Amino acid sequence: MSELRAQARLALLACSPDDKLGALAEMGVDLPIDSGVDLVSGVAPAPGRPVRPTLVAPRLLKPRGLTSITGRATLVHALAHIEFNAVNLALDALVSFAGMPVDYYHDWAEVAREEASHFALLRAHLVTLGYEYGDFPAHDSLWEMAEKTRGDVLARMALVPRTLEARGLDASPPLRAKLAQAGDEVAAAILDVILRDEVGHVAIGNRWFAWLCAQRAIDPLVAYAQLAEQFRAPLPRGPFNHEARRAAGFTEAELVALERAAAR
Ligand SMILES: [Fe+2]
Ligand SMILES: [Fe+2]
Repeated sequence: MSELRAQARLALLACSPDDKLGALAEMGVDLPIDSGVDLVSGVAPAPGRPVRPTLVAPRLLKPRGLTSITGRATLVHALAHIEFNAVNLALDALVSFAGMPVDYYHDWAEVAREEASHFALLRAHLVTLGYEYGDFPAHDSLWEMAEKTRGDVLARMALVPRTLEARGLDASPPLRAKLAQAGDEVAAAILDVILRDEVGHVAIGNRWFAWLCAQRAIDPLVAYAQLAEQFRAPLPRGPFNHEARRAAGFTEAELVALERAAAR
């Protein structure tokens, strides 16, 4: 029988989407967990990804209108790419950080499984639009934050789930509305599933960020502001999805700080 974090490492390294989904399917909830083993030993594993999509600078990706099928496919592809990266990010949270409580690894394994299901839903929808994952270029800015925060699990929790995934909560409702308006009810329904699950992912980020702050006896608000600056988090931009952020466990003080940072 394999071990959860070792299996997560295999899934992280798998390149083709099918290999990655297959390795994840083997990552069962009943696997034993060795929280102590160092799986990176100075050399962080590069996340496996397919040869295509071609990775380009974000500014080279032109948004297209949603009235054409190609325009919609471009957007669905971009979302599938985000979810593919999210699978790798969740797996890396298990692989790169030893010494956390067992529940931490269960939480991020569950996130990895859900991200994989989001990717699979979007990829299947993309096929109905006449395209495959890999047919459009994509960018790599999500993984860059994983690299930057590799040295400290507190920074990872602050910057990835609590910043990048939380931005997804804000972005989701207007995007859903646009897709529904363009007549793509299937994509709109997929976004409903994703938003519901993403609230849980951000909640998990909040859970472990709070746990680490308590353990290190630091103030979460102060620590977050400091880490956002140190790691050059993308500047917050409203409007914010207060309802979803509250459901994910952000406090009123944190929401006020967010609005203030966005107004600066
Ligand atoms: Fe997701
Ligand atoms: Fe997520």
